[in-house]
Amino acid sequence: MCGIVGYIGKRDAVPLLLEGLARLEYRGYDSAGVAVTGKSGGIRTVKAKGRVRELEAQVPKRFSGTTGIAHTRWATHGAPSDENAHPHQDTSGDVAVVHNGIIDNAGDLRARLTAEGVGFASETDTEVLAHLIGLSDADTLEGKVREALSRVDGTYGIAVLHAAFPDRIVVARNGSPVVLGLGDNEMFVASDVAALVRHTRQVVTLDDGEMATLQAGSYRTFTTEGSRTASAPTTIEWDAETWDMGGHDTYMHKEIHEQPEAVDRVLRGRIDDRFATVRLGGLGIDNREARAVRRVKIIGCGSAYHAGMIGAQLIEELARIPADAEPASEFRYRNPVVDPDTLYVAVSQSGETYDTLAAVQELKRKGARVLGVVNVVGSAIARETDGGVYVHAGPEVCVVSTKCFTNTAVAFALLALHLGRVRDLSVADGRRIIEGLRRLPEQLSEILKTEEDIRRIAAEFGTARSMMFVGRVRGYPVAREASLKLKEISYIHAEAYPASELKHGPLALIEPEVPSVAIVPNDELLEKNRATLEEIKARSGRILAVGHQDHPIADETIIVPRNEPELDPILLGVPLQLLAYHTALVMGRDIDKPRNLAKSVTVE
Ligand code: G6P
Repeated sequence: MCGIVGYIGKRDAVPLLLEGLARLEYRGYDSAGVAVTGKSGGIRTVKAKGRVRELEAQVPKRFSGTTGIAHTRWATHGAPSDENAHPHQDTSGDVAVVHNGIIDNAGDLRARLTAEGVGFASETDTEVLAHLIGLSDADTLEGKVREALSRVDGTYGIAVLHAAFPDRIVVARNGSPVVLGLGDNEMFVASDVAALVRHTRQVVTLDDGEMATLQAGSYRTFTTEGSRTASAPTTIEWDAETWDMGGHDTYMHKEIHEQPEAVDRVLRGRIDDRFATVRLGGLGIDNREARAVRRVKIIGCGSAYHAGMIGAQLIEELARIPADAEPASEFRYRNPVVDPDTLYVAVSQSGETYDTLAAVQELKRKGARVLGVVNVVGSAIARETDGGVYVHAGPEVCVVSTKCFTNTAVAFALLALHLGRVRDLSVADGRRIIEGLRRLPEQLSEILKTEEDIRRIAAEFGTARSMMFVGRVRGYPVAREASLKLKEISYIHAEAYPASELKHGPLALIEPEVPSVAIVPNDELLEKNRATLEEIKARSGRILAVGHQDHPIADETIIVPRNEPELDPILLGVPLQLLAYHTALVMGRDIDKPRNLAKSVTVE
C-alpha cells in the first residue's frame, strides 16, 4: 500500500525519489507524487494518477532540488486522482506532507478548518495535516509538526518539507513504518527498506511515537513529546540485488524458484540432532511455559492465514495441543475471549498487516502472550510480539506470497516440533520429522523441475471459467491456498472446499467446464479421497490430482515427492503455485501486481 521516500543531500533528489517510488510499486498503489525544495527556495510538486512512469512523464524539465519527498498512494479517503495524490500542501504552499496511514478525526478537523476559512484542494485526510502544520505558530518545523500531530487521532508515517526550513525533512511514525537510511553526507527516508537499499544498508527504524529530523549530514530522533531518543543504526542483511529480478521475467517466478534455498535458510542453525528437536532462539518462552500451554490460536490474513492453518495442524499433530487458525480481522472484531493458558501466534510476511497488528495489540492489552511468525525483521508485528520465529524467506516482492508461504509453514513445523519435544513427542518421532525437514529443499527442487509439465497442464485447465479445489484435513489448507493463488493472479473464479463437504452443496457446480483440483496425498485418508475423485468423475467433472502416485481416474496427475505425512502439505501446494503462475501467464495478466491487490494491507 502507500509508500514514502525522501532524500536530503547534495544530489538532485528527483531521480532518486522516482527510483525509490519504483522500488515501492510492488506494494500496490494508484497514484504518485513528488515535492522538492532547493536553492531557489519554495516548494514545487508534481502529482499524477496512475503508475510512477506516468508521474515521471509529467515532471517538467527544470524540476529539481536537493531535498524532496515522494509518495505512492493507495486510495482510502477520496478516489484515485491527481488532486488526491500526495504530497499535500497547506494554503500558502510552504508545507508539503506525504502520509501513510489514516487520520481518524480528519472529518472533524476538516470541518473546523473549513469554518475558519481554510480551503481544501483534495478529499484526503492527509491535507488536514498539511494545513495544521502550516497554521502552527511554533518556531521550528519540529514544533509545528508536533503541534499538528497532537491534534490528530489515527495512524501515520509522515515526511514533511517546509519552504522556510529547506535544510531538513521532519518525519514521524505512529503505526506506519518509517525507516531512515544513513548515507555519506546525505540521508534517505522510506516506509520500506526496498526503497533505500540501493543507496545504503545502514538504517534506523523509528518506533511508534518517535519523530526524526534529517539533515544532509546528520539525523536526530526524539519522541513526539520532544525528548531525545537513542535509536542505534542497524545493517540491512540483504543486498540490493535481492530486490532485483535476477534473470526471471517476474518476481513471482523468481520467488517460486528461490524456495529450496529459502527453506534451507529457515532451517539453518536451528536443528538440534542430539535432542531430536530445534533451537528457536527468539521464542521467549521456556520449556516450563511451553508445557503449560493449553491451546494455540493462530491469527493472520490471506496466505499467512492459510500457512497458519497448516501450522495449527502441525501443532496438533506433533505437540498434541488443540490449535486452530482464524483470520486476524475476524478475530479482532468479535471481541474474543482472551485466555491466559492460550498461546497466541500472529503470522505475517510483512509484519505490517493492519488487521493482524491490531489483533496483536488487542491481545496484549488483555494480557495475552503473543508470538510472531514473521518474515520482515524488525517490522511492527515482530516488535509488538513477545518473541517468535523469523521466517527468513528473504524479501518477497510479488504481491502474492509463494516462498514466504512455504517458509512460514516450515517455521510452524519447527515450532510444532519444539512444543512437541518438551511435551510428549518421542525422540524417534522428533528424528523422523527432522529428517523430513532436511529432505525438503531437495524435494522442492525436484518439484520445480516439473515446471514444463505444469505449464502444459495450465494451458489445458486454464481455460476454465471456474475451478474447484478440494482437500481433506492436511490437504484442505493446501487447497485453500492454491485456490487463492489462482484467483489472485489469473482472476479465474475458484473455490476451495474440504473434500468431504463437496456432496453437501458444491457438487451441484461440477460439470466439464468446472474442473477440480484434488489434493490426494498417500496418507490415511487416501481411500476417502479416492471416493471424492469418483464423485467428481461421476458428474463428468475434469480432475487434476496432486498427490504421491498416479490416479488413473484423474485427467491429469501431478506427482509430488513424499515426505513425512505431517510435512507433506508444505510440498503439495508448490506445483499449484506454478499452475496459477502459468495460467495467469497464458492469460497475459500482470502477475506481480494483480489488479485491486496490495502486498501489505496497512489499513482496516
Ligand atoms: C495481502 C496480500 C496477501 C497477503 C496478506 C497478508 O492481502 O495481498 O498476499 O497474504 O496481505 O500479508 P502479510 O504481510 O500479513 O503476510
